[in-house]
Amino acid sequence: MRIVSGIQPTGNLHLGNYLGAIRNWVKMQDEVAARGGQSLYFLADLHAISQPHVPAELRENTLAMTAALVACGIDPARSVLFNQAQVPMHAELQWLLSGTARMGWLNRMTQWKDKAGKNREGQSVALFTYPVLQAADVLLYQATHVPVGEDQKQHLELARDIAQKFNNDFGTEDVPVFTLPEPIIPPEAARIMSLRDGSAKMSKSDPSDMSRINLTDDTDTIMAKIKKAKTDPEPLPSDKVGLEGRAEAANLVGIYAAMAGTSVDAVLNEFGGHGFGKFKPALGELLVESLAPIGARFMELRQDREALDAILARGALKARELAGPTLAAVYAALGLVR
Ligand code: TYM
Repeated sequence: MRIVSGIQPTGNLHLGNYLGAIRNWVKMQDEVAARGGQSLYFLADLHAISQPHVPAELRENTLAMTAALVACGIDPARSVLFNQAQVPMHAELQWLLSGTARMGWLNRMTQWKDKAGKNREGQSVALFTYPVLQAADVLLYQATHVPVGEDQKQHLELARDIAQKFNNDFGTEDVPVFTLPEPIIPPEAARIMSLRDGSAKMSKSDPSDMSRINLTDDTDTIMAKIKKAKTDPEPLPSDKVGLEGRAEAANLVGIYAAMAGTSVDAVLNEFGGHGFGKFKPALGELLVESLAPIGARFMELRQDREALDAILARGALKARELAGPTLAAVYAALGLVR
């Protein structure tokens, strides 16, 4: 087993990242170690330059996100933790895969369509070819499993398509160049929605901070955000079916279930028939209780720049070592003389 996944260091870690992906990273790190496999987690700083950014902020955010991942439980001694920019083979493989990826495939990516909107002509080339870099990220390490939230599923399918076509075009029948990676998407928290709008995903690019819970939010902020979260006037239903058509209620119940490590039905069993006046404070307290230790650890780790730099340098060294054989095989398969 080889687990690989990444996160953009574009701002604060929020509850969607945590429940959709990072918590699974931590869980898999242990499972994989027990089976003698390897997990690699990285800061996708190369992806971050596909949209306008401030260089000094990117550097700070990369260090902050490293601290956040360690605070959540990623152990740099057991997982390879690094940033893409220190492993140039990601960018190198992206170019090599660009001969295989098709324009039509990239044109169909919903994230490209959403982010580009009506102004496709004005977007960076990097925003369009972003999924090819993402494919390189996982194929470079022969990833078998990629833990992500629902929104990354399509990018993972593209990575599989690229790997399949490359294997067909340049591999030999018994020696494929790339492993086809499987996405791992959590059942209860695959898509955490905004606290202000149940039809939009919780995201760091939402201009309203009230739309998300950040890992670093203090107790009062978390309680206030949950109190102000959009809901409807009905009490909670006693089963899942009753949440249909109630996106905001379904989101809050889903967050509760994911955070408590239980099912939506179990939460409704407890709170069905009660209004949000009772449910919201319980949810707020559960979040505070679960996130406070992570927030405190983050604040501590964030101070020690040298330690964070050292973690990333060590991780990059290991990542370069693991990436070497695959990259060499790709050059050879393409007939490139090195
Ligand atoms: P990013 O940085 O947007 O998000 C990091 C992880 O968090 C998950 N996530 C969510 N899950 C549930 N609900 C939400 N509201 C929510 N918001 C974010 C994402 O699905 C993701 O797993 N392109 C990727 C980073 C990346 C990557 C990769 C991931 C680059 N290369 C290779 C996997 C493998 C991204 O921007 O994720």
